[in-house]
Amino acid sequence: MHFTDDTVSLVVGGTSGIGRAVAQALSERPGKVVSASRRSGLDVKDANAMARYFAALGPIDHLVITSGSQAPGGKIVDLDLQAAKAAFDVKFWGSIAVVQAAAKTIRPGGTITLTSGFLARRTVPGTFVKTAMNAALEATAKMLARELAPLRVNIVSPGLTDTESHHGMDPSARDAMFERAAASLPVGRAGRPEDMAAGYLLAIDNGFMTGAVIDIEGGGLIN
Ligand SMILES: NC(=O)c1ccc[n+]([C@@H]2O[C@H](COP(=O)([O-])OP(=O)(O)OC[C@H]3O[C@@H](n4cnc5c(N)ncnc54)[C@H](OP(=O)(O)O)[C@@H]3O)[C@@H](O)[C@H]2O)c1
Repeated sequence: MHFTDDTVSLVVGGTSGIGRAVAQALSERPGKVVSASRRSGLDVKDANAMARYFAALGPIDHLVITSGSQAPGGKIVDLDLQAAKAAFDVKFWGSIAVVQAAAKTIRPGGTITLTSGFLARRTVPGTFVKTAMNAALEATAKMLARELAPLRVNIVSPGLTDTESHHGMDPSARDAMFERAAASLPVGRAGRPEDMAAGYLLAIDNGFMTGAVIDIEGGGLIN
């Protein structure tokens, strides 16, 4: 994709982790990059605020959505449904709301790149919310790629990635999780935000790619 000084890219979730790495990679190109999240005044759960935000921002070329990394764990029969619905409200419905607010402002030749996660297609007991939310988003991305064509819509599916999203964990449990990943993944390490950023750039740059799920998971899905 050709970037010029007029190109505008928006990364919703671009203030942390994977989104920040995408914003950094895009900022090395010509044009403007905007990062948005609650800390910059955009809450994807607030549809009215979102409509105002996109009206004020004006036309954009590339929309990346990485917002919403938290979800409750536990077996389905024991699940706190309120917490599960709250996670869906941010990551699933929030992504849809961003697309609704942004779609008409995306210029011809533009792209939307969503985010799912490797659990969408890996059955790990106790991870139902992430599995269901990410699988739903992968189906949604394909639907959007048909409905919004010729605008291109893709989705990046990250594996375990070392970001702020894991900072709320007990440090020894977090270290153990990353050590287990390093020992079990074919690539021998967990993901880094910049590994993921490369996938969003691929989706933006490759004019023949739409409706694609881009797996960047260190081989987690073939393990
Ligand atoms: N890291 C992993 O291991 C991993 C694995 C698989 C999939 N993923 C997926 O990759 C994406 C990015 O994850 P990450 O690890 O980069 O997470 P992260 O570091 O926690 O970043 C999440 C971003 O979402 C924003 N956000 C959260 N709630 C929001 C809201 N209501 N409105 C607007 N923005 C909101 C946060 O900013 P504010 O707090 O300022 O709102 C932050 O910028 C997520 O979809 C996650 O599920 C991550």
